[in-house]
Amino acid sequence: MLSSFTLSAVPLLLAGLQAATVNAVPTISAVGSKFFYENGTQYFIKGIAYQLKPHDPLIDTAQCKRDIVRMSELGTNAIRVYHVDPSADHKGCMDAFAAAGIYLFVDLDTFDTQINQDAPQWSHSQYDAFTKVLDEFQQYDNTAGVFVGNEVLTTSNGSHAAPYVLAATRDIKAYRDKKGYRQIPVGYSAADIAELRPMLQNYLACSHNASERLDFFSLNAYEWCGQNTYQSSGYSGLQAAAADYNIPIFFSETGCNTAKPRTFDDQAAIFGANMVDTWSGSMIYEWIEETNDYGLISYGPSVDPATATDPNVEDGYTRQGTPTPVMPDFDNLKAQWATLNPTGVALSDYKKRTGSITPVACPSSTSGGWAVDPSAPLPSLGQSFKKGAEGSAITSATQSGTSAGTSTSTNTSASSSQTSSAASPAGHHASSVPSHLLTVSVLLSAGIGAVALWL
Ligand SMILES: *[C@@H]1O[C@H](CO)[C@@H](O)[C@H](O)[C@H]1NC(C)=O
Ligand SMILES: *[C@@H]1O[C@H](CO)[C@@H](O)[C@H](O)[C@H]1NC(C)=O
Ligand SMILES: *[C@@H]1O[C@H](CO)[C@@H](O)[C@H](O)[C@H]1NC(C)=O
Ligand SMILES: *[C@@H]1O[C@H](CO)[C@@H](O)[C@H](O)[C@H]1NC(C)=O
Repeated sequence: MLSSFTLSAVPLLLAGLQAATVNAVPTISAVGSKFFYENGTQYFIKGIAYQLKPHDPLIDTAQCKRDIVRMSELGTNAIRVYHVDPSADHKGCMDAFAAAGIYLFVDLDTFDTQINQDAPQWSHSQYDAFTKVLDEFQQYDNTAGVFVGNEVLTTSNGSHAAPYVLAATRDIKAYRDKKGYRQIPVGYSAADIAELRPMLQNYLACSHNASERLDFFSLNAYEWCGQNTYQSSGYSGLQAAAADYNIPIFFSETGCNTAKPRTFDDQAAIFGANMVDTWSGSMIYEWIEETNDYGLISYGPSVDPATATDPNVEDGYTRQGTPTPVMPDFDNLKAQWATLNPTGVALSDYKKRTGSITPVACPSSTSGGWAVDPSAPLPSLGQSFKKGAEGSAITSATQSGTSAGTSTSTNTSASSSQTSSAASPAGHHASSVPSHLLTVSVLLSAGIGAVALWL
């Protein structure tokens, strides 16, 4: 018999579920150096950098749905978005991505809030802006991770900015926990700077206090171009530097385009025997074809920005419509991913090993190179970098890096010029017709399940 209490509780229960299970999919968590689904299966990223519109591509539900069809065809299970507007409504897109099993890694910073290598600071206004993005996206189960920065350090003398990245990490993790949000992994996406490798990677993960280290580290690397090999691409060096890493690590951008067509051979290495026990997959740069020529799909040929009247044309490219694969690159990536399905390790087995995981050693300060004192306290909220004795010590160039032919600055500018080129004037293109159909059915089935349990 239904008690009157139970009946009157149903609407309340449904209201509660609406907040908690808007797009119920298994969440992703970081355990040791790996990511796992809730059921204990390891999660490997097959991701795409997705930034159709400079300020927020996750507000146009119809466009997200058109793109998801092609992403699913590729075998994508993650997107990376660099800039979002936390005050916008993301529900339509996030639900559509969730329904396709696609998770979001989102940058908390945007053009005017990012930590700046030339004048590092961690300010209250940055904190407020970062936490607003976290507030917005924590509600979606398919938010897999957040970044406190993308390529903050861009040059070999930029190490003085690293403590500010870590201060942001500390405060975002503390905020997440104080608010009672789930343990959404907090990470950083690094430029591939040979001279700072592996110091930056280790510095951000080395604290024995988990509150003061990243939950994951990721690298934007364009080292593997064309028909390369594990050895000559430089990937063997990346692997050697990451083999004992204590938190998850993956490629947050990859897909060198200097040899055409792109064959994405590096995917077989990342998901292959040499690397798969260390790396959690990769994100391909990028979805839309634009001036930098990294696109997997196109919405049409370039148009002269001077004469374009369509509001969906920005920086000379149409940014809305039916996605047309860029061939043969699209099919090449699809073929690579179709053959790469590592099972990884089961969480229950892995947990037996996590007790022996210890943080990597903190890098010591070296003259003219890594200019961070590992024992110095992290900057506090509101602090900014003052160039002093330490600052002048780091201006001298170093040739000590084992760059093995990597053209770091070129690669860095290739990717960051794209993301900053997106900074050019652009309005918001908000969609006002999100579909709630998925929500309703998930909500109803979850509600019915919960009521059944209750009874
Ligand atoms: C665990 O969940 C993931 C994501 O839904 C799914 O792909 C995988 O097959 C599941 N694993 C098992 C063992 O059921
Ligand atoms: C760990 O770091 C947090 C954040 O800085 C701090 O509040 C806490 O006291 C630290 N714990 C220990 C044991 O040092
Ligand atoms: C790093 O080097 C560049 C180029 O030599 C210089 O312009 C910049 O000021 C240096 N940055 C710092 C923090 O010393
Ligand atoms: C890095 O990327 C740039 C720009 O695409 C390219 O010119 C350069 O050859 C790449 N370098 C390496 C080592 O991959």
